[in-house]
Amino acid sequence: MRLADKYALITGAGRGIGFATARAFVREGATVAIADIDLERAKSAVQGLEKLGGRGLAVHVDVADPASIDQMLRAILDAFGRIDILSNNAGVGGNTPFLETTLAEWELILRTNLTGAFLVAQGVAREMVKGGSGKIINIASLSGQRGGDGRAAYGAAKAGLELLTKVMAVELAPFGINVNAIAPGPIDTEMAHLAHDEATRAAYHYLVPMSRYGTPDEIADAAVFLASDESRYVHGHTLNVDGGFQAAGLMYKTAAVPTRPSA
Ligand SMILES: NC(=O)c1ccc[n+]([C@@H]2O[C@H](COP(=O)([O-])OP(=O)(O)OC[C@H]3O[C@@H](n4cnc5c(N)ncnc54)[C@H](O)[C@@H]3O)[C@@H](O)[C@H]2O)c1
Repeated sequence: MRLADKYALITGAGRGIGFATARAFVREGATVAIADIDLERAKSAVQGLEKLGGRGLAVHVDVADPASIDQMLRAILDAFGRIDILSNNAGVGGNTPFLETTLAEWELILRTNLTGAFLVAQGVAREMVKGGSGKIINIASLSGQRGGDGRAAYGAAKAGLELLTKVMAVELAPFGINVNAIAPGPIDTEMAHLAHDEATRAAYHYLVPMSRYGTPDEIADAAVFLASDESRYVHGHTLNVDGGFQAAGLMYKTAAVPTRPSA
């Protein structure tokens, strides 16, 4: 029970990595607010937690909307009284070639994946400062570290989130708030199913040394570590959970190099 008596907020936790993280946090004794733009999805996720014997609160939020973030925080603080752990997980994918990326798409992805994460973290951190402790985990991406095809907006937002993690770590350390990021490689979720065609999946199997997608539970296990006291001197760090994708250079494999994935 590494998170006993802790109150956690996970954005975008109605499904995928966020929901897996909620299950893992509950398993470790936390009570979790599941915030999602799809309230029905959040409610069924909470039912899923209850089936595991855990406790959760379903809350609506659109992290691209500052007023919605304020409402979410008020609802959670009314219910829990405090937030000990934040997983800043809500995000939307993007897979459009640079030359075709519209300003509208750029702004939506930046607003959701970077500005939204900033505003949620700022609102939560202002509460954590009052208690003198807290854990914040920003969910970044390998796409924020490497120049992936079609990832102009998405990659720029996630790279920004990694840098924001460092600044937050520097500024929030004196308040006892521990800030880190996780950069997942390709993870088998709805987001990946929607964004990755067959050629993209083949490319990932080739480029990831472990030759497979990760599971949401593998990200959740890393999040438990960063949310727990075990990571107390890990600070301002981005933990890659990527099957070795970032580590890899030239790899000789017997499989043929896949064709270049279409965007
Ligand atoms: N799946 C991957 O391969 C992968 C890789 C690297 C990083 N990530 C990151 O992990 C996080 C979770 O991804 P996932 O694969 O579980 O995605 P997903 O699409 O399966 O789930 C995302 C959840 O976020 C919610 N959401 C979307 N927009 C929102 C908004 N504006 N406000 C609140 N909630 C919103 C959705 O309703 C959904 O329930 C994202 O930040 C994503 O960028 C995913």
